[in-house]
Amino acid sequence: MIGIMEQQNENKSLEENYHHYTLFDITVDPGLKDDVGNELPRPFNKNQMRKWLKKVRWEKHKSEKRIKEKARAKERKREARAANIDLGPNRKMLKKMKLEKVKSNVGIILDLSFDHLMIEKDRYKVIKQLLRCYSINRRSESPLQFHVTSFGEKIKVDISRHNGYEHWDIEYHEESYIDVFPKEKLVYLTSESENVIESFEDNKLYIIGGLVDHNQHKGLCYKLAVKHGIQHAQLPLDKYVNMKTRKVLTIDHVFEIVLRICEGMQWEEALLKVLPLRKGAHLCQSLSNSTSSLDTS
Ligand SMILES: C[S@@+](CC[C@H](N)C(=O)[O-])C[C@H]1O[C@@H](n2cnc3c(N)ncnc32)[C@H](O)[C@@H]1O
Repeated sequence: MIGIMEQQNENKSLEENYHHYTLFDITVDPGLKDDVGNELPRPFNKNQMRKWLKKVRWEKHKSEKRIKEKARAKERKREARAANIDLGPNRKMLKKMKLEKVKSNVGIILDLSFDHLMIEKDRYKVIKQLLRCYSINRRSESPLQFHVTSFGEKIKVDISRHNGYEHWDIEYHEESYIDVFPKEKLVYLTSESENVIESFEDNKLYIIGGLVDHNQHKGLCYKLAVKHGIQHAQLPLDKYVNMKTRKVLTIDHVFEIVLRICEGMQWEEALLKVLPLRKGAHLCQSLSNSTSSLDTS
């Protein structure tokens, strides 16, 4: 009995929140659009209508949610301050630091030319990883020069969920890297390359493929590098760490490894710091004997 009443209350609160948007409203809406903005043919099926309804609700509640999140963050900061916990630089300080920081001469390019190969969920994963790259770069003492290429319409729509992305310290290019930068300065990072990188050179630009593909397009970036006649290289994972899983890393992990090396960290330390536990990375035997200062646990 209590269970039924709880369910009824929950339904009631859902109705109160969303009573002005029903599936009927959607049927009289001028039109539904797919991910790319094309009109969907009528009659709309239930799934399309549900998806649209979800979008409308999201738009409506985005700002309210943001206000609540801000209040929660403020409260957490107040509690941390009271407990004497160091929270790192705040937004104001980060802005000031941005003006004072000297950028690294190493550039990184996130190649976003793979939209057509990913479903919506994976495209959002790419954006999430892009966000993480931006965030760690912003907090670095010597940030990399961060470029995004093939920044097309689809990705613009996806990323516009994140307010203010235009003002982030990233250079967005609609064109492909091959049309923007001199070929001889480009190096495509790819786990399939036979070349192993040891250091990142000033004035070179290292490309990361903006692709979340669950290994469906194995070797694609390598093939692209060969096709365009540009240099390519893999990270020296085999040399420094033994890994339980395959050597294909996520975009943000590759980005962070490049950043840490450019900041002056040693490969062993950078790899162990960045690679997640589930990748099971541990130092190669010969290194772990000679590197007693690293905590490899
Ligand atoms: C999830 S992977 C995409 C894998 C994709 N099948 C491909 O062809 O590259 C994302 C990107 O991270 C970079 N990457 C991942 N693991 C790497 C490694 N071990 N060495 C160099 N780059 C790597 C590559 O640029 C790659 O395109």
